[in-house]
Amino acid sequence: MSSVFKEGLEDIVVSTSEICFIDGREGRLLYRGYDVDELVQHSSFEEVVYLLWNGTLPSRKDLEAHVKALNSTANRKLPPKLVTMLRQLPKKTTPMEVLRTGVSALAAFDPDAADNSREATTRKAIRLTAQMPTLVAAWERLRRGKTPVAPNPKLSLAGNFVYMLSGKKPTDLATKTFDVALILHADHEFNASTFAARVTAATLSDLHSAIVSGIGALKGPLHGGANEQVMRMVEQIKTPERADAWIRKALADKARIMGFGHRVYRVEDPRAKHLRRLASELGKQVGNTSYVKILDTVARVVTEEKKIYPNVDLYSGAAYASMGIPTDEFTPIFAMSRVAGWAAHVLEQHAHNRLIRPRAEYTGHARQQYVPIERR
Ligand code: SDX
Repeated sequence: MSSVFKEGLEDIVVSTSEICFIDGREGRLLYRGYDVDELVQHSSFEEVVYLLWNGTLPSRKDLEAHVKALNSTANRKLPPKLVTMLRQLPKKTTPMEVLRTGVSALAAFDPDAADNSREATTRKAIRLTAQMPTLVAAWERLRRGKTPVAPNPKLSLAGNFVYMLSGKKPTDLATKTFDVALILHADHEFNASTFAARVTAATLSDLHSAIVSGIGALKGPLHGGANEQVMRMVEQIKTPERADAWIRKALADKARIMGFGHRVYRVEDPRAKHLRRLASELGKQVGNTSYVKILDTVARVVTEEKKIYPNVDLYSGAAYASMGIPTDEFTPIFAMSRVAGWAAHVLEQHAHNRLIRPRAEYTGHARQQYVPIERR
């Protein structure tokens, strides 16, 4: 079987989907037909979750019920035995490893775990969307020898996460920034982690298994892990004055610059401008504008020299760092948002399913006879 194929499935269309549209040439991103620029301005992460799962914006009554379910302590809290399990993990375990382990373990406590009906999968999606921030925040406290902070049902998903991390009610700007970041990371068509989730769902496996597949794929530095690597680059550059020379040397060394380039966008990622604005506002609020100044210089040089543009991961970490969030929490934050998109794609895959099983162009040995070991 000889066939033309594209390494990495580049530009290969593998199925239809009604959830997310990306215009790679114009740099536009739509969730169920709504431009993220408008959703960032008018919506909330909770409303975007409803939109991704149901395909329509909710009525006031439906939104209130949806927010109540997402914010309820019953859905946000972790089973005590799971917290006991977390306490057994080595303190050096990274937050992404804890998220991968914790989501898998949550299936054991979920009454709907083996039920793939739309109703049960939606109930599980609400619980996971509500529990993942609690899981990430609990580990942040436990690994530093502190007691986890119980979720506050009066706070939004964004505000509650920042509260559970620090134990203090966040500022309105921090809450708004975090809510916008969650909106911007919620879905992105058939990106690597979403496709991993769909391949898993297409075997008729369950939601928790598909989300664990997504978490494993998102962890990689070419995908969701890039936001952490960008901050490590900023830390190496140290000051805005050093940025120009540092990035020119990195490019001369043929280094891959995290936060730049994209498989689909041929122009700047439409999410980057919002995250840059938030990082800039937060930096001013906390009196540290150096992160954005460093990144702006890096962006100017990389764009000029390589014609490669900022993606979603370039400025997100600068915003989170300005809120005092540790670097290795950045990718878990990406996952806390993307679980909404992953769940939407699992629901869509289960509704019109066909097993996803591509072929390989075989380039190995031709048929050969087995040789007994004494003759090898
Ligand atoms: C996300 O798919 C999605 O939608 C993902 C995402 C989502 O919301 O789900 O948008 C989130 O993952 C954003 C991307 C985060 N990753 C990074 O920032 C890591 C750095 N970026 C690159 O590794 C790269 O741009 C990818 C992986 C994102 C895309 O790479 P492709 O399409 O596989 O392109 P490629 O690696 O084949 O590069 C093409 C050329 C190469 O030059 P040549 O070797 O052919 O001369 O462009 C160069 C690359 O060297 N290039 C880069 C570069 N990205 C591409 N050179 C330096 N730095 C970069 N960042």
